Amino acid sequence: MALSKGLAGVIADQTRISSTHNAILSYAGYPINELKDAPFEEIVYLLWHGQLPSRDELAAFRFELVSQMALPYETVQLMARIAREPQHPMSILRTTVSLPGTTNDVKRDEPPRILGKMLAAIAAIIRIRNDQPIKHAHRQWGVVENFIYLFSGKRPTASEVKMLNTVMILHADHEFNASTFTARVVASTQSDYYSCLTAAVCALKGPLHGGANEQVFHMLETIHHNHQDPVEFVNQRLAAGDKIMGFGHRVYKNGDPRAVILREIAKTLARDTDNMAYFDLQEQISQVMAEKTHLHPNVDYYTALIYHCFNLDAETFTPMFAACRTAGWLAHIIEQQARGCLIRPSSEYVGQTNRHYPTGKEENAID
Ligand SMILES: CC(C)(COP(=O)(O)OP(=O)(O)OC[C@H]1O[C@@H](n2cnc3c(N)ncnc32)[C@H](O)[C@@H]1OP(=O)(O)O)[C@@H](O)C(=O)NCCC(=O)NCCS
Repeated sequence: MALSKGLAGVIADQTRISSTHNAILSYAGYPINELKDAPFEEIVYLLWHGQLPSRDELAAFRFELVSQMALPYETVQLMARIAREPQHPMSILRTTVSLPGTTNDVKRDEPPRILGKMLAAIAAIIRIRNDQPIKHAHRQWGVVENFIYLFSGKRPTASEVKMLNTVMILHADHEFNASTFTARVVASTQSDYYSCLTAAVCALKGPLHGGANEQVFHMLETIHHNHQDPVEFVNQRLAAGDKIMGFGHRVYKNGDPRAVILREIAKTLARDTDNMAYFDLQEQISQVMAEKTHLHPNVDYYTALIYHCFNLDAETFTPMFAACRTAGWLAHIIEQQARGCLIRPSSEYVGQTNRHYPTGKEENAID
């Protein structure tokens, strides 16, 4: 058996949910460029059912999701206790996601309920961290409009909804990325939704995956506040062998198609919110990266600025990624559970061989 470090290039299984074939991201066969302005709920339906909903199905699905965007009193109480600690919001989210698995009949919970609660929980983490009261969803609004309202406390403009809607669609799924694959490994053991999602949140947290968006913004802030030359900054970091966050991708070696769309949204939002200094900085960094390396901006590079323009703290950027990706995680958990096949690869043993436990070591014997 050939070894592939990091499973790069290994086809671990089949999926009907999404594809990055030929560096084109598509959901259930539809290219992302054609889906980016559809309602988020319609894309969630597509990921879960493999086909677009009819008008009536979409209206019913939207109502079902929005109806679930509320948290039980006990969950809010517990979150209020832990979300104030000086802990990373992804750690708070990890505990919050696993909580219903201990209090509910986990077999009863269905994906729409779980997605609605996940969005409400992430918004609540953001509110509690800022000492702001929890908001309640409006049944007549859509999921994205409600989500922004739940975390910001303000009814968003139509253009804000449109932009975050696209951001959420672009992040909704990405075939066998690290967190989704983690969720699938857990699902392959026929474990429950909460166990799979908790594992996915843990995998997303790291800076080589979802945690990169937070690191991108810390980099921009460092350069901006210290009045550093971005070219010099990048050159120094590369010379030191450091990675520049928000660049490079396991699958897209010639550029991430999502970053092209997100760059335009970041530019518009930066202009609208007086954040062009950060956007200009990003342009300079991506230019020097193009000159010095073969690396292109990935999905996290511009999302960092987009979330900052939504007045979010950098530490809450990765929970925002989780909010978008939950739809895809759930789709993959459903698909993997239906597959009924345990994921259990093999390893190449490179440790010592042919060793023997010494005789006469009576002092180590267990009485
Ligand atoms: C995403 C990522 C893990 C993909 O990694 P990968 O396909 O396994 O590629 P590798 O990490 O092996 O990188 C290949 C080479 O490019 C370099 N490289 C990759 N990403 C880099 C980055 N962002 N900055 C500087 N160098 C980078 C590596 O150091 C490596 O160099 P080497 O061959 O001299 O050792 C990697 O590009 C990365 O760490 N990026 C930064 C984190 C990030 O933005 N993550 C979000 C991904 S959507």
